[in-house]
Amino acid sequence: MPVQQKALVTGAAGFVGSNLVDHLLETGWEVVALDNFSSGQREFLVDAARHPQFKLIEGDVLDRPTLDRAVQGCQWVFHFSANADVRFGLNHPFRDLEQNTIATYHLLEAMRAQNVKNIAFSSTSAMYGEAEVIPTPENCPLPIQTSLYGASKLAAEGLISSYAEGFGFNACVFRFASVVGKRYTHGHIFDFYKKLKANPRELEILGDGTQKKSYLDVKDCLRGIMKACFEGQAKYERPRYGVFNLGTTTYCQVSESAGWISSEMGLEPKLNYTGGRQGWIGDNPFIYLDTKKIKSLNWDTSMSIEQAIRGTVRWLAQNEWILERRQ
Ligand SMILES: NC(=O)c1ccc[n+]([C@@H]2O[C@H](COP(=O)([O-])OP(=O)(O)OC[C@H]3O[C@@H](n4cnc5c(N)ncnc54)[C@H](O)[C@@H]3O)[C@@H](O)[C@H]2O)c1
Repeated sequence: MPVQQKALVTGAAGFVGSNLVDHLLETGWEVVALDNFSSGQREFLVDAARHPQFKLIEGDVLDRPTLDRAVQGCQWVFHFSANADVRFGLNHPFRDLEQNTIATYHLLEAMRAQNVKNIAFSSTSAMYGEAEVIPTPENCPLPIQTSLYGASKLAAEGLISSYAEGFGFNACVFRFASVVGKRYTHGHIFDFYKKLKANPRELEILGDGTQKKSYLDVKDCLRGIMKACFEGQAKYERPRYGVFNLGTTTYCQVSESAGWISSEMGLEPKLNYTGGRQGWIGDNPFIYLDTKKIKSLNWDTSMSIEQAIRGTVRWLAQNEWILERRQ
């Protein structure tokens, strides 16, 4: 692990970002948190706010003066803000480009101006589209994009790798499987939980339920990020640029997941499938990442997909206030 330093976390009030903030503070970092609270929750930063090494900047990653202020004096930037909802991209065609690609450009420029050279970026397994190779390795053939979200993240990866090459940045890019766990606020577990609270007897499932996905607990995800950033340089694709898949070595079907969620809630609903191999346009029916590269750094998951999903349901049950906050 590094000598403790100062980091900017964008998207710091979000699901993954707020867990990262806590982790950094616990391990001795000074943290500047930037968030516009568009999907982030103030409650997620309550513990952090008590910490003397924590500072919150409420602002937008599209606002260059805010970014200049936020990156000042930092050694690392963990860029986790995004429009993270894949599903509704087609309703707002500019949103992913603006929030995920253009925002990344502004952040890189602010970093360049302030001479901050280390960046960790939350990309996504959605950028693999309907992958031709499964399990999908980091160096798979250039994927055809199936969502505006995936496209916007791939474009951001392109910018980051170019800044590494051209301006001497050190960059670590993470393609996550679906992340679950404490402070989970969006995705199928959230949707199913909410639907089952409204009607415990029936559950509508988008698609035919055979979509295969991999889920990763947020704590395992964060351990992987820190490993790759601070022990992973030997595995980088270029001297200052590394890409790491983060996921579990198994996958499950959506129908199995529905069973675990229902049983954790003590329910036996009738499952109604809307049909089709995908739930919506851009829902990649099979996501399963090759994780050999991150595993070669002695990283592994600490729980099975079932344990991670059941743990997420328990967190939602203890924090039902979140159900009304998100779509
Ligand atoms: N959760 C997953 O399963 C998953 C999977 C793959 C990749 N990712 C990526 O990981 C990152 C974190 O995802 P998450 O699940 O925590 O999402 P999230 O929506 O909970 O967090 C995103 C945070 O960014 C903030 N934000 C959004 N736009 C902003 C802006 N313009 N200025 C300042 N702040 C802004 C939001 O308020 C929120 O706090 C995202 O980049 C996402 O694309 C997440």
